[in-house]
Amino acid sequence: MKKLVITSLLIAGSLLAESSSSFEGRKGVAPATDSLYLKECGSCHFAYQPGLLPSRSWVKVMENLSDHFGTDASVEGADSSKILKYLKDNSTEKFKNYKKTKSIYDSIATTETPIAVTKTRYFVQKHREIGCELIKQKEVKSLSNCMACHTKADKGSYSEREINIPNYGRWEDE
Ligand code: HEC
Ligand code: HEC
Repeated sequence: MKKLVITSLLIAGSLLAESSSSFEGRKGVAPATDSLYLKECGSCHFAYQPGLLPSRSWVKVMENLSDHFGTDASVEGADSSKILKYLKDNSTEKFKNYKKTKSIYDSIATTETPIAVTKTRYFVQKHREIGCELIKQKEVKSLSNCMACHTKADKGSYSEREINIPNYGRWEDE
């Protein structure tokens, strides 16, 4: 009897833990977890979650790494295909059950292939009210620097209450 109670408690506990963590995930984008990706694509900047761009965008990014936003970000052949596979397997199309991924996906016309998250319509619209001086300041530098303002961006979480803009603070919508 006692054993049964403990087992049920354990099951209830793990169900609870699982539902709360996937709830957190579904609100934002799925976190980036692949260690090769985090190492190769997280060294110069924040490792953007694959669910921030559609598959065709990742193909374009990966095909042009030698001329990547004015820098050479080339990755060795085999690693490059592994990274591309990871990105395609986890792109916007695959994670539309995550709220932010769906919003980004819906904002990109099928005829477009943006190579930057910051160029997508959803992103531009969400960030248009931020003053230029807050973006250009040295603690931020550009909107590509997600972690400067979204304190939990690395967890795939972009909720408004977690925003903290350097030298400004929390973002309050009027
Ligand atoms: C040598 C440095 C370097 C490496 C390594 C690198 N990048 Fe970048 N990446 C940049 C720079 C510079 C930018 C322009 C934005 C910025 O200033 O941070 C950029 C921007 C991006 C953007 C657009 C961000 C936006 O503004 O929405 C994506 C997507 C991206 N990189 C993906 C990747 C991927 C995928 C990899 C791994 C294969 C990678 N990067 C590796 C330097 C690098
Ligand atoms: C200068 C600070 C700053 C930077 C850098 C920044 N953001 Fe934001 N972001 C904001 C603010 C402020 C909002 C809230 C806008 C609003 O809803 O009024 C926001 C909103 C968002 C939202 C929508 C949140 C919601 O629930 O409505 C997403 C998703 C997001 N940002 C993703 C990103 C990503 C991805 C990056 C990096 C490529 C990034 N942001 C870079 C400040 C920033």
